[in-house]
Amino acid sequence: MEYGIESGFLEQVATSCLVVGVLESQQLTPAGRYLDEVSGGFLSEILRLGDMEGRLGQTLLLHRVPNVVAERLLLVGAGKESEFGDSQYRDVIIKMVNALRDTGAGDAVSALAELPLRGRSLHECLRLATETAENAAYRFDALKSKKEETPRKLARIAWRVASEDATLAAQAVREAEAISHGVYLARNLANLPGNFCTPSYLADQARLLAESFPERMALEVLEREDMERLKMGALLAVAQGSREPPKCILLQYLGGKTGDKPVALVGKGITFDSGGISLKPGDKMDEMKFDMSGAASVLGVMKAVAELALPINLVGIIPTTENMPGGKAIKPGDVVTSLSGQTIEILNTDAEGRLILCDALTLAEQRFAPIVTIDIATLTGACVVALGRHPSGLFANHEPLAEDLKKAGRASGDRVWEFPLWEEYQEQLKSNFADMSNIGGREGGAITAACFLARYTKTLHWAHLDIAGTAYLGGDKKGATGRPVPLLVQYLLHRCA
Ligand code: BES
Ligand code: MN
Ligand code: ZN
Repeated sequence: MEYGIESGFLEQVATSCLVVGVLESQQLTPAGRYLDEVSGGFLSEILRLGDMEGRLGQTLLLHRVPNVVAERLLLVGAGKESEFGDSQYRDVIIKMVNALRDTGAGDAVSALAELPLRGRSLHECLRLATETAENAAYRFDALKSKKEETPRKLARIAWRVASEDATLAAQAVREAEAISHGVYLARNLANLPGNFCTPSYLADQARLLAESFPERMALEVLEREDMERLKMGALLAVAQGSREPPKCILLQYLGGKTGDKPVALVGKGITFDSGGISLKPGDKMDEMKFDMSGAASVLGVMKAVAELALPINLVGIIPTTENMPGGKAIKPGDVVTSLSGQTIEILNTDAEGRLILCDALTLAEQRFAPIVTIDIATLTGACVVALGRHPSGLFANHEPLAEDLKKAGRASGDRVWEFPLWEEYQEQLKSNFADMSNIGGREGGAITAACFLARYTKTLHWAHLDIAGTAYLGGDKKGATGRPVPLLVQYLLHRCA
């Protein structure tokens, strides 16, 4: 969909549908009061009939409002003003999009940006509204043989703002559109099943992205032989049980000054995680196609950053392979040597994410000397148990970086929650046969996984995002969310400000 800004007189706007909020109970927002006046009390009359109390998510579609040029007027309930926060705001926008898509309206002008969202600037409201609308309109039907019978007409939403705010608002919409394009890419890649989205497919997609920004992006893909030469023994160990060739994708975006150290984003790219010889149970195993969501988010962020032409150097590093129990697969008890030289006893082949990430993190350090390194991974079920599905887990060895990510989380609505990375937890990774084990036992599983990665990032300013709970939803809403693309783009926007 397309988004824009509208600041003309509401009653004169030529659109298929105007959208106006109503607070509980029966309280018109400013745009509604204005339209009520020009229409000679038409709206207050309807409220008096009791058809629209303003309950959260309630909608009412009106036609032929007197003295109003628009073909339709959609009222959307926003609930009680005292309870109106981010999540209610999102609900209202989702209801708006769904209601509009059910009409024949091809475009809409929405005054919902004026809803009283506490603690949020107009810029933040418009970002939230645009990103939420775009997410709500998303469908993944690439693999359905029959597409939707009657295609939805809705193609454009313009947010109604006062004319003095139009410039600021346009900038917010521009950011939101770029973020949404990144989210869209990440969702599509993650939703695509393992028989389509292989390591080779991810490398092809990275190439397409690089080719769409030829003057600012450069791609290199390490093949198995390259990784053997480099001695990326941990990544290769995971790959050896699969028939699909592994890749390590290195995608650079050069928007900053030459010589400026890059921010490195390292994304876990397990295109299917069967668990390997430590095979997972069958229930919900299909969801392990989402185990490359970290990789998908890196590509999404890079797309958004390139679209916004941010003045920054950025490198995306994507170690990618399947985790399969083939005849040559690694076995519990096997010891492998990582690129860093540290040896690892693999006590559980299902703890594979940290194995591919540790080599990618060492490679990031050696090749790019990044100013900041952030890895993004669907790393542990334990993180989902601890936090549920609302925030991503945050770990960092550098306090200011953790604070910056929390701030970006609050601003973007794509939130994080910090775990400790204390020395004491390192004990749990002791091995009798190698420098460390790849598992730390049941207690604090998300933390010991992060502690494992911390052993490979000692010289870096590093943060780890465990997105096992946030990258996708299960049940009847099963599908990728595109998180944490909004968080990371916001972090980079703040860095550039
Ligand atoms: N990809 C999984 C983590 C995961 C689990 C993501 C559930 C999303 C939902 C990861 O590779 C894994 O299997 N982790 C194990 C680690 C354990 C063996 C130490 C886990 O969380 O059970
Ligand atoms: Mn696993
Ligand atoms: Zn995994």
